[in-house]
Amino acid sequence: MTVITFIQHDGSERMVDGDVGLSLMEAALKHDVPGIDADCGGGAICGTCHCFVEVSGDLPAPDSQETAMLGLRPDRADNSRLACQIVVSDGMADVTVRLPEFQM
Ligand code: FES
Repeated sequence: MTVITFIQHDGSERMVDGDVGLSLMEAALKHDVPGIDADCGGGAICGTCHCFVEVSGDLPAPDSQETAMLGLRPDRADNSRLACQIVVSDGMADVTVRLPEFQM
C-alpha cells in the first residue's frame, strides 16, 4: 500500500493510504485533507490542485496540458505537479505531497 504524506504550508502532516487507481487529489479529498481545491474535478484545467511532490521512484512525466497549467503558477518549482494527474499505481513508492500556502 502506498502511503501519501500531505504536508500543509504550516508544516502539519497527515498520512493517508493511497488507493490504487485514485489520484493524489482524489486521495486528499477522500480523506478531507485541506489545501487542494480541485475546482475542475481532475481535468487538468484549473490548476487548483498544485502541489510539490517528493517520491523515491520515478513518476510519469507531466503531459503538455499539465505543463501548461503549471506554467501559470508563480510558485512553480522543479517538483511541482497537479495532484489530479498522478494516479497511485500498484507498487508505487510512498509519496510526500507538500501543499502551497494557497491555491489560485
Ligand atoms: S483538479 Fe483541476 S487541475 Fe487538478
